[in-house]
Amino acid sequence: MFRGAQDLDSAPKSRNTGTRFFPESLDQRLDRLSESFQRRSLAPRVGIDFSSNDYLGLSQDTALRKRILLRMQDVESGASGSRLLRGQIPLFNEVEENLARFSGGEAALLFPSGYQANLALLSGILSAEDWVFSDQLNHASLIDGMRLSRARRVVYRHRDVGALRRELQESSSHSGLKVIVTESLFGMDGDTAPLLALADLAGEFSALLVVDEAHATGLWGDGQRGGGLVQSLGLSSRVFATIHTGGKALGTGGAWVSGSAKLKDYLVNFSRPFIFSTAPLPALAVALDESVSYWKHVGPARAASLFKGADRLRESLSSFGLQSFEPGPIVPVLLGENQVALRVAEKLQEVGFDVRAIRPPTVPEGTARLRLCVHWDHSLEILLRLSERLQEFGRKN
Ligand SMILES: Cc1ncc(COP(=O)(O)O)c(C=O)c1O
Repeated sequence: MFRGAQDLDSAPKSRNTGTRFFPESLDQRLDRLSESFQRRSLAPRVGIDFSSNDYLGLSQDTALRKRILLRMQDVESGASGSRLLRGQIPLFNEVEENLARFSGGEAALLFPSGYQANLALLSGILSAEDWVFSDQLNHASLIDGMRLSRARRVVYRHRDVGALRRELQESSSHSGLKVIVTESLFGMDGDTAPLLALADLAGEFSALLVVDEAHATGLWGDGQRGGGLVQSLGLSSRVFATIHTGGKALGTGGAWVSGSAKLKDYLVNFSRPFIFSTAPLPALAVALDESVSYWKHVGPARAASLFKGADRLRESLSSFGLQSFEPGPIVPVLLGENQVALRVAEKLQEVGFDVRAIRPPTVPEGTARLRLCVHWDHSLEILLRLSERLQEFGRKN
């Protein structure tokens, strides 16, 4: 029943003075976040970008923007419905063929975001009778996809192949599908999954391997294509599905699931986040298509420059609490307490660096950190200046 203004008198007491009701209990939750230095706000962009996932600068690239704008003229402004109804426009098939080629899959299925792609894939293939084995540091969208599926979830220690093997052995007599889920490049820790060993385990225990390539897409591949770490290791045929996002190194947005043609057919029939949602914006499909096509011209050289810069930054921070020395754009600097991470980030912002503090629940309690994202065009001078200031501010805390 409609709750009109006259009902507000009888509603639970609120501190809100505006026109919309907001319950006090929710307000208290916000207060609790403030007390533990976990409250977020939407802060504007300031300073040199060490925070975004635009690793290759494609979101700011005028040549790419021109290519996208040119094609935009011919696309409809909306898809008008679910793809299973009138939303299936020819553009989607065309773009999905290109995305499949780029990521080394037989077929691809496009989604509005990586979050939705992960929900769609995991809730689509898993059910309550199945078993899913998940790396401890997997992204929230993978966790939510598994939760939605109601499959039995076994969380194994981060990158611990021995622990995973024991769990698989223990469950070997159980019936149901077994699926191993991991990120390839971990978004908050910057380290990589032991993909070869995971593929071997999947083979040995007849499990399926699902790899989220969100942070690796566009940075690794086979030279001509930037499909990610699975592709660069030659493992595509041994991996059931990979997930790729457009909003990070590809500089646009959206995402796709890459796998067999049968998997695409299956998701179209069983995946509720795919079925019960309006098809992605045609403009998004065009933008993503142009970015994978443009990537071939600039991606490999920019990725090489990024890897070099990130190595230099790691080297210069080596005495300063670094967790991982693996190559890649993400350099996490662990500071522990939320308050300390916030304070050091703020000081870096004051001297012109856009560095953000990453706190729970994005990372485990007690592991608040600065997540430095190196981009292809950060000069050595800038990287060293950041390193110096960070060590100066960090040591004072
Ligand atoms: C590993 C991983 N998977 C999925 C996503 C979700 O992708 P999107 O931002 O396109 O929703 C993210 C986003 O940060 C991510 O880090």
